[in-house]
Amino acid sequence: MDMINRPRRLRTSDTLRKMVRETRVSKSSLIYPLFVVEGENQVQEIPSMAGQYRYSVDRVLCKVEEMLRSGVDKVMVFGIPDHKDACGSQAYAQDGVVQRAMRAMKERFPELYIIGDVCMCEYTSHGHCGILNGDYVDNDKTLDYLAKIALSQVEAGADMVAPSDMMDGRVAAIRDLLDRCGRINTPIMSYAVKYASSFYGPFREAAGSAPAFGDRKSYQMDWHNSREAVKEALSDVEEGADILMVKPAMAYGDIISRVKEITDIPVAAYSVSGEYCMVKTCGNLGYVDETAIMCEIAAAAYRAGADIYLTYFAKELAKAIDEGRLG
Ligand code: PBG
Repeated sequence: MDMINRPRRLRTSDTLRKMVRETRVSKSSLIYPLFVVEGENQVQEIPSMAGQYRYSVDRVLCKVEEMLRSGVDKVMVFGIPDHKDACGSQAYAQDGVVQRAMRAMKERFPELYIIGDVCMCEYTSHGHCGILNGDYVDNDKTLDYLAKIALSQVEAGADMVAPSDMMDGRVAAIRDLLDRCGRINTPIMSYAVKYASSFYGPFREAAGSAPAFGDRKSYQMDWHNSREAVKEALSDVEEGADILMVKPAMAYGDIISRVKEITDIPVAAYSVSGEYCMVKTCGNLGYVDETAIMCEIAAAAYRAGADIYLTYFAKELAKAIDEGRLG
């Protein structure tokens, strides 16, 4: 036998396999999405997302403490107001549910890094991500609102804002208002490449944000497209985005890789509600090893090029990293 190359040589022990690993997953790159609702003493389980809850402001603090203890110190906050109207006024109200939650979290846990999801669909009576003009979501009219929402979140304690509405020009509009208000160092993580995906189904149930008519295809991207992701990513970089996000994650590894290659800023991947739901449901039925699958799917996003990972499994991933199952 004169075989010199034996790829199996580097697979002979766990220690060696870990040393030569090409992909590292760190707790510091995990972001946990949190839903906050009005009222007191509310912890409402989301039926399609076993193990995920909507919290009232008083109860969300316990959840944050639990996350911090597990080593996850970044959260993305979604607000679900009782009152919804045509212009989503609770999204930018000073005492809106998301603003109150951010204030409370920042006061109690100054070390927590708070990211605000900037959108209108959880706040509008029609469930669309912007201001309507007839049946059409009016892009330019919506921009002023988005900027106002972002500013209100930053004033309430958000360390970073993340527009998820998919209006054209929103990054520039938000950057402009934040800068004029002296918030030059508040980064923008743009949901730059966001597809019109059925993977968001459970989230819309959780946030009560399903559109009352039509769909989001006139603003979110067509999932047949990949070159369009380049166009979206580059224009957001030009507008001043600090981090680009690709969403969903699991079925979009090619897109994550492509965005990573053509830009030089950090890339985030959002493993969305439908991904969580599928893994959790099959896990609960005993059809798959939930923890193993969760780790494999997370590693795939990082392997594709993600630097940052938003996931409902953040706490469980942190534990898997601690236990040496991933990382
Ligand atoms: C708001 C928003 C959505 C998600 C994040 N921000 C829903 C949507 O666009 O319909 C989805 C997150 C998830 O499914 O986990 N626009």
